[in-house]
Amino acid sequence: MTNDPIPNLTAFDEAALDQAFAVIERQARKDAAQLDGEAFRLKWLGRKQGLLNEVSDRWLKAAPAQAKKAVGQRFKILKELVEQFEKDSSGADPTDAALKAEAIDVTLPGTRRLTGAVHPITRTLDEIVAVFAALGYSVGVGPEVETDYYNFESMNFPPGHPARDTQDTLVVESQERRPLRDRLLLRTHTSPVQMRTMELEPPPVRIVIPGKVHRNDAADATHSPIFHQVEGLCVDTNITFSDLKGTLDHAMKALFGSAVKTRFFPSFFPFTEPSADVQISCIFCGGKGCRKCKQSGWIELLGCGMVDPSVFAFAAEKQPAYDSKKISGFAFGMGVERIAMMKYGISEIGQFYAGDMRFLGQFA
Ligand code: PHE
Repeated sequence: MTNDPIPNLTAFDEAALDQAFAVIERQARKDAAQLDGEAFRLKWLGRKQGLLNEVSDRWLKAAPAQAKKAVGQRFKILKELVEQFEKDSSGADPTDAALKAEAIDVTLPGTRRLTGAVHPITRTLDEIVAVFAALGYSVGVGPEVETDYYNFESMNFPPGHPARDTQDTLVVESQERRPLRDRLLLRTHTSPVQMRTMELEPPPVRIVIPGKVHRNDAADATHSPIFHQVEGLCVDTNITFSDLKGTLDHAMKALFGSAVKTRFFPSFFPFTEPSADVQISCIFCGGKGCRKCKQSGWIELLGCGMVDPSVFAFAAEKQPAYDSKKISGFAFGMGVERIAMMKYGISEIGQFYAGDMRFLGQFA
């Protein structure tokens, strides 16, 4: 761009300087009104050919020593004015400002969104439920704050029976004036929902019940006072122990792989007769014996048995069709944490509850 040449100054008295600077100032004002921000900036503030530089070269630097101060003062005022014009014009340009505000720098790294993931306990619980849903089981739930009747008495733990001591129970306080059967406690297992289900539905029943249970246990690497169980109940005509074995053998193979074997050991639960503990062949060593299975080749995983006739008798108070002469059934209960720890190779139960993202992120 060729700028209007800056005339040479011939006189340096105040009046001559005022007049010369007034002409330049008028020119700046005119340009500010007519030129767009970028053109104004180039013409007046351009590094090499900007008019301000020219004024500085021709007037300021060329001024005799005694006039330097007077020229300098006026130059400073002119410079500030031009800079103000430049600021106003670039700020006032609406398209420019709007574009700047909306500008996206495509070279910046994007905002990372964390992927949500199902908690390993919920995931294991869902998997167990899905195995039984595929066999035609429905899904039920029951209350975590339960009565003594459902948690114990109707499950054939009579008042004062020593079997109650095997489930260290957390009870709700200040209930001494209530009849024992109505007193509230935190359920120690999901089995009370067996009774709640039978009271509502006549046989046949096939149901799984996932949920939280509470015990007055000290926490350690494998125990937590709050944990999860999945209960199962199947009642129909001619249900036998071989149905129970076949169902659980299938479920364990579905959960841990078809190579897994099961075996049933005699056990005791008040609400099943006969009762059994189910062991699976060690999934770590394939049954050869290792540290995880204490060299036995087997790992104990759940409790089960044929529904005790006395349990049916309690159910029959509300649903007479639970007549143990006509129907039979089996029940089972498994700990979800224990199964999740085996499936995912977790050695500390507390990891499930700590909310540590480094742990949970591995399940995303
Ligand atoms: N309720 C038992 C427990 O918590 C497990 C169980 C359920 C055993 C159903 C047999 C039948 O230990």
